[in-house]
Amino acid sequence: MNSFMANALQIEALTGWEILDSRGRPTVAVEARLAGGVMAQAQVPSGASTGTHEAVELRDGDAGRYGGKGTRRAAAHVAEIIAPALAGMDAADQAAVDGRMIALDATPDKSRLGANAILGVSCAVARAAAIARGIPLWQHLAAGRPARLPVPMVNIFSGGLHAGGNVEFQDFLALPNGIAAYSEALRAIVMIHAAARELAEARGYRMTGVADEGGWGPPLPSNETALELLTQAIERAGYKPGAEVSIAIDVASSHFYSGAGRYELKSEGRTLTSAEMVDLLERWCARFPVISIEDGLFEDDWAGWQTLTARLGGRVQLVGDDFFTTNPARVRRGIAGHAANAVLVKMNQIGTLTETFEVVGLARAAGWRAVISARSGETEDSFLADLATAAGAGQIKVGSITRSERLAKYNRLLELEARAGLSYGWL
Ligand code: PGA
Ligand code: ZN
Repeated sequence: MNSFMANALQIEALTGWEILDSRGRPTVAVEARLAGGVMAQAQVPSGASTGTHEAVELRDGDAGRYGGKGTRRAAAHVAEIIAPALAGMDAADQAAVDGRMIALDATPDKSRLGANAILGVSCAVARAAAIARGIPLWQHLAAGRPARLPVPMVNIFSGGLHAGGNVEFQDFLALPNGIAAYSEALRAIVMIHAAARELAEARGYRMTGVADEGGWGPPLPSNETALELLTQAIERAGYKPGAEVSIAIDVASSHFYSGAGRYELKSEGRTLTSAEMVDLLERWCARFPVISIEDGLFEDDWAGWQTLTARLGGRVQLVGDDFFTTNPARVRRGIAGHAANAVLVKMNQIGTLTETFEVVGLARAAGWRAVISARSGETEDSFLADLATAAGAGQIKVGSITRSERLAKYNRLLELEARAGLSYGWL
């Protein structure tokens, strides 16, 4: 890089402001301006079924605005505290930029500046650097690593905190594991989503719009009903369950864990122990084409996770979301202790791009899979599509195929497929 280019890539200004996410709740947007004149923005997502060990999303706490959920303080930190510390730094040196913000925050959970402010800067700086270098965002982020279009893991039925607690399990997803191209996989999902609605209606379930991530959230009588309907929907859409399109579930079990090792399935009128949860999940994997289970057990049930992994880990992808919260230290512990065999990667759980890539790298080195994921509160930013491609992770989970905050990501991947000549598929 010549010195003219290096100067052009210097961070000159950073601004943050409050915007709304797909649930109408405040989140943060950031703009980065570089010395060469390039400007770029990024918008930060926000979860609802959050893990206890996530980095802190800073909220104003002013009950008179958005019930205390305003983000003006976090947004103000961008220009007032972060910008002076980053001024003059090379926007292309992501590790240095993120490292300086981590040092500036100086808390283990990014609670001083707010992970929402820090992540907004991390992503806006990356996008500005890509533009200044004249290359696509995925290529800038990949930094020489092998890039790859991911297989979409797509929400069809929603439950839990995303659908008013109709059933306890949070996501019933279609995972097109045997389809050769991204666009064909997406087409399959669209047909399965439609077939799922027809089947649910035919059984008399009331369909009232869509849930937080755009999937159907009907009042089903049991968690198992969702699995039956989804299996039938795959067939009705013309695909072979298991061979072409399989099922992934996000149990999100921490959100119906009632303490003392008990999992309360209220919709089914029963309470299960950790061992009984493992039995249930094993039975379901035998009866339905389930090949991936996320957060099958409580986020701090390390012993249970080890049992689950010993029983199912050889044939089923066991993904830690609330369990790992994209935290390198927790992922290291999981790898060392044979708890889970895959990690869900959510940028805002940890707060910087550098740490996000660190988690993907740890997973890869251990022979684990990684799934790049959105949050239930999303924005129209498509950043995640480029991130998943750059990470070469092989899988992406960004909700259903309705609502534009979801389509922003799927459509960006269609663009990359059409224009970038990337390979596709999971690892
Ligand atoms: P969240 O849900 O964004 O509400 O945490 C997504 C998930 O649990 O995977
Ligand atoms: Zn989850």
